[in-house]
Amino acid sequence: MADGATPIVEINGVSKQFELQGERIEALRDAHLSVAKGEFVCLIGASGCGKSTLLRILAGFEQPTRGDALMWGMPITGPAPARGMVFQDYGLFPWLNVRRNIGFGPASRGRPAAEVRETVERFIALVGLQRFAEAFPHQLSGGMKQRVAIARVLANDAELVLMASSWRSGGAPASPSCSSPTRSRRRSSWPTAWW
Ligand SMILES: Nc1ncnc2c1ncn2[C@@H]1O[C@H](COP(=O)(O)OP(=O)(O)O)[C@@H](O)[C@H]1O
Ligand SMILES: [Mg+2]
Repeated sequence: MADGATPIVEINGVSKQFELQGERIEALRDAHLSVAKGEFVCLIGASGCGKSTLLRILAGFEQPTRGDALMWGMPITGPAPARGMVFQDYGLFPWLNVRRNIGFGPASRGRPAAEVRETVERFIALVGLQRFAEAFPHQLSGGMKQRVAIARVLANDAELVLMASSWRSGGAPASPSCSSPTRSRRRSSWPTAWW
């Protein structure tokens, strides 16, 4: 599957419509995109132009009305650990400390305790939160919560990290429609990221 030629993500003619109080809302129309493994893609556009809808389709939370959303050439039919979402409000579990938030995915999937511990320590170190391993989310700054949310996704074997915008203004105010995605290449061993 991951043969180097197949894109990690393909969006082929994806449209999405919602019904709102009897009115049809067109959130996406005929979207196309191909993302290679290791690419860092940033989707910028006006508030309401469909960025989050596309992100939610990639996460498997929504299905397209038309078109195909593929990962490694296979249709995305629902959420999966390989496609992890970093939510705009981080979505951390308030009753779990940093260590347990990060270990939640592998622990829930029945990974052996020693492996979960090793994974958690590796990703706590990666995001530089060793001193805060026992802290609860309400004891962290916004940026630190975001780092925990990223570590939680990575610890759960994500190949694609989906990140909702952290611009509180809700997007680029001056742009009339969604622009082309901005891309850059990262170390190819890193998961593909999507903002
Ligand atoms: N579940 C939903 N029901 C009805 N309309 C929705 C729903 N989700 C999104 N929309 C509509 O789809 C459009 C695109 O929304 P969204 O993808 O959240 O935009 P963005 O993230 O670019 O600001 C908006 O008009 C929004 O109101
Ligand atoms: Mg949005």
